[in-house]
Amino acid sequence: MRVICCNDYEEMSRKAAAVIVGQLTVNCGSVLGLATGSTPIGLYQELIDAYNRRAVDFSECVTFNLDEYREIEPSDRNSYHSFMENNFFGRINVRPGNTHMPDGLAPADEACARYEEAIERARGIDIQVLGIGNNGHIGFNEPAADFPVKTHVVELAEETRKANARFFSSLDAVPKSAITMGIGTIMKSRLIILLANGAGKAEILRRALCGPVTPEVPASILRFHNNVLAVVDREASSLL
Ligand code: F6R
Repeated sequence: MRVICCNDYEEMSRKAAAVIVGQLTVNCGSVLGLATGSTPIGLYQELIDAYNRRAVDFSECVTFNLDEYREIEPSDRNSYHSFMENNFFGRINVRPGNTHMPDGLAPADEACARYEEAIERARGIDIQVLGIGNNGHIGFNEPAADFPVKTHVVELAEETRKANARFFSSLDAVPKSAITMGIGTIMKSRLIILLANGAGKAEILRRALCGPVTPEVPASILRFHNNVLAVVDREASSLL
């Protein structure tokens, strides 16, 4: 794993964006795996700025998001569909038919199988962007007894629901389950960019990058991938 320590959030976002712009310059039909949450917002803003400067074109690229809440309408302002539309897709020239999000409303087995098939049909993910949860989750793969391989439905950890409650009217309004790419799905990506910023992520980043590889810290599995770029700010890297 290569770790790139940046001075601040802006530099982290700029560096990650440069990798993605480079990938799309070489292959405009690349397949991007995308994350939601606070961490990648700066990256998306950098990519939007690059698009506005005509430095990048998204018209041929294909995207797959990591996860979506269950039983929430795509039009709900807290859905990850809405998040992506507001923070990225609605502000670039990606074709709506080329963007994919797990279907939180369809019957679980069908939604999971369809998502895996769609990723395979696209010939896998070229670059997967990841944030890291306070408990070490990637996507919504929560600490568990093993590493879930494929796209699946997951009960959200209480810690995750509390962390995400900041986007909802109350903790009760946060969905209790979600559909997420599996660890195996993520690990098949050809390049993974792990982003982490802020002092709050320092301890979990230390456990993921320096502690034992264990499903209790799902992000620790990334050390078995041969092409991971961890792009982190100074605060998040302070315990490495
Ligand atoms: C979101 C996702 C999550 C987040 C993680 C960190 O699609 O997959 O794993 O990356 O919860 O969230 P933030 O960035 O809000 O700290």
